[in-house]
Amino acid sequence: MGRIGKIILISFAFIFIVLVLTFGIFTYLFIEAKQSNVGELTFDKKLYIPELLEPTVDEQGRKEFNIEFQEGEMEWIDGKKTKTWGLNGPYLSPTLRASKGDEVVVNVSNATDEETTLHWHGMILPGEMDGGPHQLIQPGETWSPTWKIKQPAATTWFHPHTHGKTAEHVYRGAAGMFIIDDPDAQSLNIPQNYGVDDIPLIIQDKRFSQDGSMNSGAPFFSNVGTLGDHIVVNGTLNPYFEATTNLVRFRILNASNARVYDLGFNDNRSFFLIGTDSGLLEEPVEMERLMLSPGERAEIVVKISSDDNVILKSYAPDLSSPFWAQRFNGGDDTFDILNIRGASKLVDLGELPSRLVDIDFPIEEDVVKRRTFDLVGQSTINGKPMNMHRIDEVVTIGSTEIWEIRNPRSETYHNFHAHGIHFALLELNGQEPPDHLKGWKDTIFLPPESTATVIAKFDAYAGTDAPFMYHCHILMHEDAGMMGQFIVVDSDTDIIDKIEKQHENIH
Ligand code: C2O
Ligand code: CU
Ligand code: CU
Repeated sequence: MGRIGKIILISFAFIFIVLVLTFGIFTYLFIEAKQSNVGELTFDKKLYIPELLEPTVDEQGRKEFNIEFQEGEMEWIDGKKTKTWGLNGPYLSPTLRASKGDEVVVNVSNATDEETTLHWHGMILPGEMDGGPHQLIQPGETWSPTWKIKQPAATTWFHPHTHGKTAEHVYRGAAGMFIIDDPDAQSLNIPQNYGVDDIPLIIQDKRFSQDGSMNSGAPFFSNVGTLGDHIVVNGTLNPYFEATTNLVRFRILNASNARVYDLGFNDNRSFFLIGTDSGLLEEPVEMERLMLSPGERAEIVVKISSDDNVILKSYAPDLSSPFWAQRFNGGDDTFDILNIRGASKLVDLGELPSRLVDIDFPIEEDVVKRRTFDLVGQSTINGKPMNMHRIDEVVTIGSTEIWEIRNPRSETYHNFHAHGIHFALLELNGQEPPDHLKGWKDTIFLPPESTATVIAKFDAYAGTDAPFMYHCHILMHEDAGMMGQFIVVDSDTDIIDKIEKQHENIH
C-alpha cells in the first residue's frame, strides 16, 4: 500500500472510531437520561399538609398575615441533611386563605442572607403589590403588600421572583399556596374541608447529591434545566394519604422548575377536573390523564372506595418533540407520586354537581388590541431577552386584548404566564380549546410548534416602577431572559405616548 493509501486508511479508521465513540456516548447519555421511580416507593411517610396560617384582623378590618423567609434543613435521605428555604418553617409555607372581597396585608420578612422577592402567582393585584423582580426584600427587611381580593375562588400560589435567581430560590423550597374562597364556590356540594377532603398537593421533583444536598442538575442535553429523579409532595418524599371520604378534592400545583407531568391513576380510574389555574370550571370534566406544566394548577375530585389503594402517578408526558428532545427533557419519565388509601369506613359526601359556576369571560367584541408573543430559544420573547429597564408593552387599564402566544420551534417546550390577569383560551392551534382548558388560566403550556390565543381584561394597574411580567415558567428560561414587562395604565394621560417613545428609543 502506498503512503497515500495508508493515510486514507488511517483517516477512515479514525473517523470510524470517532463515530462509534460519539454514538456510544450519545446512547449512554440517552439511556441515563430516562428517570423512573415506578414500583420503587414504599409510601411510608404520611403526606404533610401545610397548616392554614391564621390571620389577625387589623384596625382597618384587613386580614393580616405574617410570613418569613427562613433557611432550614430537611432530612429526606436517611441520616443526611438537605439545606432548604421555607416560609415560617424549613420547607414550603403554611397555606394562606382569604375570600373574595377581603382586604389582606401580608408582612413578608426575610431572615435569609440573600435578597429575594415574593410574587403572588395568579392573584390579580396592583403591580406594586405583585412581588415581581422590582420589589426586592433585603435580608432583615419586611415588605408589606396590601390589596383587596376581587377575583373568584381559585388556588393561587406564591414564590420568589428575583431576576436571575428565581429557579434557585424556588428549588430551595420557598413557595406556598394561597386559596381564594367565594360564596358561589362555598355553596357547591364539593369537598371543601381543608386537610380532610380538600387537600393541597404541591408537586416538585428533586435530585440529591451524595451528601444529601439538593442538586439542580439536568440530563446532559436537557434544554429546560433541572429535572429531578425524586418527587416530593408538600415536601414529603414517599408519601401516602389516608382518605376518609368517598370524594377527595386535590388542589394540585406543579411547583417544579421544569418538569411537565401527565397525571393519572395507576388503575386508570377517571377523575373530575373542577378547576384550572385561576378558578372553577363551569362544569366538571371527566378525565383519565391531565398534563400540568410548571406553575399550572388543577383542582380534581377523585372517587375513593373503602379500603382503596391507588397511586397517583405521572405517565410519560407527550412533549410533541423529536425523540431526543422528548427523552432529554423528561418526556419518557414516569413517576409514582402519592399513594391514596381508603379508610375502611368512608364518610359519604354524595355526588358532584353537574354544574359548578358561571364564568364571566371577556368577549371578543370588546377587544381593542392584539399582540403576538414568540418564545424562541431559551432566553427571548419577540427576539428580546428580559431587560429590567425596558417596558415592552403598554396596555390601557380596563381594556380587553387578545394575545397570541407562539412556540414556533420544534425542539423545546415552553409555557407562558402573565402577571396581573387571568385569561381565557380562545383557540389552541387554531382550534376550539379542549374542555379541560375552558376555565380561567394564567399559565398555558406550549409544546413545540403550538399557538395559544387568549383573551383577557386588564383591570389591575401597573406603572413603570412596578411593571407586570410575562414569561416562560420553565424557571431556567425565565432566569435566562425569556421574560418581558408590561404596564397597565390610564389612557387619559400622555403616559402611553411617553413610554412608547422611550420604548422606541431603547431599540
Ligand atoms: Cu409564577 Cu412570574 O411567576
Ligand atoms: Cu405570576
Ligand atoms: Cu421556556
